[in-house]
Amino acid sequence: MRIWKYLNCDNMDYESILKDIKPTSEEKKHVDDVSHRLMEFLQKSCDEKGIDAKVTLVGSVAKNTALKGKSDIDIFIAFPLDTDKKYLKDKGLELAHECCVEFDTTPQHHFASHPYVTTDVEGCEVDIVPCYAINRGSELKSAVDRTILHTRYVKEKLSKKQEDEVLLLKRFMAMTGTYGSEFKVGGFAGYLCELLIIHYGDFENTLKQAINWKHGHSIDLENYNTSSLFEGDSLIVIDPTDMNRNVAAALRLNKMAEFIQSARNYIFSDNKRDYFYPIERNLKKEDVLNEFSKRNSDLIAIRFNIPDMPLDTLHPQLKKTCEALERKLNDEQFNVFKADYWSDEILTGVILLEMASSKLNDVKVNIGPKVFFNQACENFASKYGRENCYVQGDFLVHTQKREFPNAIDLVRFIFTQEHINLIKVGKNLKKTIINTYEFIDIDEIENDDFLEFLDDFINPGQHISR
Ligand code: UTP
Ligand code: MN
Repeated sequence: MRIWKYLNCDNMDYESILKDIKPTSEEKKHVDDVSHRLMEFLQKSCDEKGIDAKVTLVGSVAKNTALKGKSDIDIFIAFPLDTDKKYLKDKGLELAHECCVEFDTTPQHHFASHPYVTTDVEGCEVDIVPCYAINRGSELKSAVDRTILHTRYVKEKLSKKQEDEVLLLKRFMAMTGTYGSEFKVGGFAGYLCELLIIHYGDFENTLKQAINWKHGHSIDLENYNTSSLFEGDSLIVIDPTDMNRNVAAALRLNKMAEFIQSARNYIFSDNKRDYFYPIERNLKKEDVLNEFSKRNSDLIAIRFNIPDMPLDTLHPQLKKTCEALERKLNDEQFNVFKADYWSDEILTGVILLEMASSKLNDVKVNIGPKVFFNQACENFASKYGRENCYVQGDFLVHTQKREFPNAIDLVRFIFTQEHINLIKVGKNLKKTIINTYEFIDIDEIENDDFLEFLDDFINPGQHISR
């Protein structure tokens, strides 16, 4: 039975799903219209000012692989390779600014790794990015230069029918929580989805193949044979436009794993259609809090202010801090069952720690050297008193007072100027954690997204199966 279903996972009506996830013809027309006007303006500005640059449409809009309502317009201004870096940056920003004035919108600057401007034009999210016009990956001078090559490659290799297959894959991943290369997700980038479809042909085959992926699985569309450069990466998809680049480099192992398991669940599911829609959750705060209390765990929730910083820096730092605190608590014998973090990405960060118990007894065993080391044992005995020492197995030990029987006291001790360096805290978070942290009850935060975070905390598998 299973085998039969496995081989025939396709009495699925994908057309009806595509109707829901493909941009409508009005949306397409609007996006095309806006992008053409923007490009026309930018190219004209370049030409009038004698700036030697070519304005190009890239990203999913150019590749016809944008999901409905998600048409962010990516416009690149490509300068010749010999352009001075500062000139490229200045002129790029200047052009973007004039464009925002012309279209009456407010520009937002980003300087994370590369300067660019985002803005909102008539309901479309627009990125305006200066870059170098390269023809081969090896010529790359700035991090975003490959994008034009990506767009060219996908437009050349992806058939009309496969554009729909990309949409299905992106949507499946979005609804199972694995789509998006931003750090918060650590999942599959749009370009990675497109390459998977080019490689495997269609959505279903991609899932069928993925269930047999191993750690370090390698896909090499152009037979570059450069996989060995990426040893240790979870998934290797060699960039067809640059043999020295793994397109899946930002894919975190746990997201690859979640995708593989989602694919298995999908293949054997009787509710396949549901995988393309958000999970139903009528979250009531009361119910979620109830579920927590049923677990009878001790919870420690720490709230603090976050500084104004790019999200792709904020999230790694929150993650690092949360993991470091969990490790420290475990080192001190608090059995942390689960730890995670949440942020509204504006003002507030929260670290949530769930423990079997946040209180330990007042004594702990201090393990010394093995009895076979004469000198070490003498040192140990003289330090702690010969009469206090005893033997456990072949170790000399003694019982001492536990410094922090209460996890909360330990956190209080760590989150101070003097002791914060006992754990590895994100560097932009140190000050604000020390100055603003407080212990809260999880019911104190009124925020729907936080409620979903709590729900995911207790039901971590809910996104990958239907
Ligand atoms: P986007 O993140 O906007 O991706 O990056 P997209 O392909 O347009 O997909 P949507 O918007 O999620 O539908 C724009 C381009 O930047 C490059 C790719 O070439 C992508 O098409 N890029 C972006 C990467 O190479 N890697 C990344 O992690 C992100
Ligand atoms: Mn895009």
